[in-house]
Amino acid sequence: MSRIAHISDLHFGREIDQVAEDLLEDLRRLRPDRILISGDLTQRARRREFAQAGDYLERLPAPTVVVPGNHDVPLYNLWQRFALPLARYKHRIDGDLTPIAEDDETAVMGINTARSLTLKSGRISYWQMARIRQYFCGVDDRKFKILVTHHPFLAPTADDQGVGRYRRTLAVIKPCNLDLLLAGHFHMSFSTGVHDVYLAQAPSILILQAGTAISDRTRGEPNAYNLLEVAKGRVELEVRVHRQDGFAAQRRRVFTKEAGRWVSPGSAASEEPIPD
Ligand SMILES: [Fe+2]
Ligand SMILES: [Fe+2]
Repeated sequence: MSRIAHISDLHFGREIDQVAEDLLEDLRRLRPDRILISGDLTQRARRREFAQAGDYLERLPAPTVVVPGNHDVPLYNLWQRFALPLARYKHRIDGDLTPIAEDDETAVMGINTARSLTLKSGRISYWQMARIRQYFCGVDDRKFKILVTHHPFLAPTADDQGVGRYRRTLAVIKPCNLDLLLAGHFHMSFSTGVHDVYLAQAPSILILQAGTAISDRTRGEPNAYNLLEVAKGRVELEVRVHRQDGFAAQRRRVFTKEAGRWVSPGSAASEEPIPD
């Protein structure tokens, strides 16, 4: 089994210092094998915010895979936004917009879904679809395969939209046996609604989302991140939320893959809340 921390939407510029320190403390204690970061590292893509984010990432206690989010593209500086949309991200965070990390048990790829032309909702390009397929179809199916994006394939509520071309992407990557899609953007933790809708549509891939890990831009939920234990055919999810004295487990859910479909005992009701 591999232990993976999935954190998202750090939004440096709107970070809460104490929560940021508490997250580092929690991750040091739990010692994940890898930390996956699904975008929106900054609030306004300012140089200072990227410097803070870069310094923070260097303090994380495990290797990372990072993708940018829509907030990492400059909004008001039109030259930056259209000519060099991710120059600051590439300079301080990662020059590779299609990062890959692989070990004996897991294969992870991140792709950039942030676009200069759309303020909020992102998109997957045809080139990216081909790249995802080329990589994951070449990986041994005994490895647990994870794709990280900022914009999720399915939105948490009916009023929101999933990433552009998600249906097409799912069709293109179908032969590659992906196990898990991780995303952020909506600042809402794992949503049973998303999962249950998705179960009906394409049950072979599990979708999980993380809340905002350390920023004050919470959306009706506390700061949170996902701690995952993954092995082929099994995912144990623990949503860890911030409380007064640091991060702690709020709820857990186990998924198993049976006959090519992810199943979880019951649905929302089976999520095991952990008392305060
Ligand atoms: Fe965000
Ligand atoms: Fe976002």
